[in-house]
Amino acid sequence: MSGNGHGSVRGTVLGIETSCDETAVAVVGGGTDIRSSVLSSQVDLHATYGGVVPELAGRAHLELLTPLLAEAMAKAGLDERRPDIAAVAATVGPGLMGSLLVGASEAKALSLAWDVPFVGVNHLEGHLFAALLEHRHIRWPLVVLLVSGGHTLLLSMEGPGRYRRLGATLDDAAGEAFDKVARFIGLGYPGGPAIERAAESGDPVAFSFPRPLLDDGLDLSFSGLKTAVVRAVRARPEASDEDVAASFQAAVVEVLVEKTRRGAGAVSAGGVCLAGGVAANGPLRNAITRAAGELGLPVYLPSRAMCTDNAAMIAAAGWWQLEHVGPSPLDLACDPALALPLVS
Ligand code: KG4
Ligand code: ZN
Repeated sequence: MSGNGHGSVRGTVLGIETSCDETAVAVVGGGTDIRSSVLSSQVDLHATYGGVVPELAGRAHLELLTPLLAEAMAKAGLDERRPDIAAVAATVGPGLMGSLLVGASEAKALSLAWDVPFVGVNHLEGHLFAALLEHRHIRWPLVVLLVSGGHTLLLSMEGPGRYRRLGATLDDAAGEAFDKVARFIGLGYPGGPAIERAAESGDPVAFSFPRPLLDDGLDLSFSGLKTAVVRAVRARPEASDEDVAASFQAAVVEVLVEKTRRGAGAVSAGGVCLAGGVAANGPLRNAITRAAGELGLPVYLPSRAMCTDNAAMIAAAGWWQLEHVGPSPLDLACDPALALPLVS
């Protein structure tokens, strides 16, 4: 590590996130002190197409990253020519290859220019650090429900870097189910927030959608639920979008909470944690908080902004990795299918 002084400066990491459709840069001290966190969502760009268009995403990252870097550094009071930081961290996977390459290549170039280490971060591990950014005294192990657009994992987290898989979706990710149902009923992209909004004025028992695998182990499944929604809407075309959204959301939330409750019991968890974009969902946050209360367990929820993709979580994970694993080689490749490293 290059000579960077002491205290929070020594642990200050510049994080870059470009794995999907958010371009984000953050400066975080010691894994918890968010000195700046800025992002530019490409939602409007992709909304016309009903989902993320990889080629457009990559080009937008290229355009957006440089001004966001300048903004994040200015907000954190860093000198752009020779910032007092310990490392530059960037997401190296999973995600869209053309998008990952933009952030990771920039981070490697900055690491060379500033003579500080580069740290390649797993995006999923980044999500797991979101709660740690905002909660200090954690009772391990945590049962963590990681629910994003591409992944749905139930984990036992024994501490940073120590993850055991308890269950996972057998088909669609939870966020993907939100996005597909929203698109089907014409609520647009991204589907999660649109479903949550519509559901506020809908009746959650208007439809009794299936709760897949509710009483069966720790794995999850959402493709059958999505098909059930399509069938039900075709059978009752007069039904309101709000009722469909509320009934669908109730089914997803019930399954997610039940699986988390079972996972907590299976590993004698010390606490319950949510991560990933779907963790921004209000009814899920309320239901998981209630369930944890019934189990007598503390619940660690990242703030909504830290649930969806951001660079503060990447900087936090990068800081921990730098301290406990070490820097990454500059020839580290991006991997669109990078898996979360699990302990056996
Ligand atoms: O973690 P994330 O920002 O990106 C990925 O790593 O995939 O997650 C995005 C996913 C999308 O599927 C989006 O629809 C969903 O999270 N999402 C939500 C909400 N906000 C975002 N799902 C339900 N309710 C929300 N409020
Ligand atoms: Zn994500």
